[in-house]
Amino acid sequence: MQVVKYIFQPHSDERGQLIALEEFVDIPFKIKRVYYMYDTAKGVRRGYHAHRQLEQILICIHGKCKVHLDNGKETKEVFLEKPYEGLYIASCMWREMYDFSEDAVLMVLASELYNEEDYIRDYDEFLRIAAQ
Ligand code: TYD
Repeated sequence: MQVVKYIFQPHSDERGQLIALEEFVDIPFKIKRVYYMYDTAKGVRRGYHAHRQLEQILICIHGKCKVHLDNGKETKEVFLEKPYEGLYIASCMWREMYDFSEDAVLMVLASELYNEEDYIRDYDEFLRIAAQ
């Protein structure tokens, strides 16, 4: 499985860093939704789903966390700990996020609005769909 990590180029000057992300320029889809997780309790593992259509980019803009990816055939563990790194997650990819540092802020850019029908929450169903 190929892990696709984008490295965003900051606008750096003596004041610090600024990263700007534009749809179809830095991000390979139209950004319809942004959400983020913070204050994640110790030991929490979340996600446990795949999406039928939705694509995402995960950016740990503060702190760090890990992401477990599973395409139905292989798994990968990905570390997110830089605010300039974006992990691309295609549709039909099972994901779990874990090992959040106390200060972690995990921001997600998503290609679709929130739609529970797009979720695959049953792992066996995910495996069936991934095998098609
Ligand atoms: P949930 O799907 O449980 O998060 P995760 O997949 O990371 O474990 O989402 C938590 C709650 O937030 C749940 O009640 C659904 C709601 N939610 C929205 O209303 N809009 C959104 O865009 C997202 C991602 C979640």
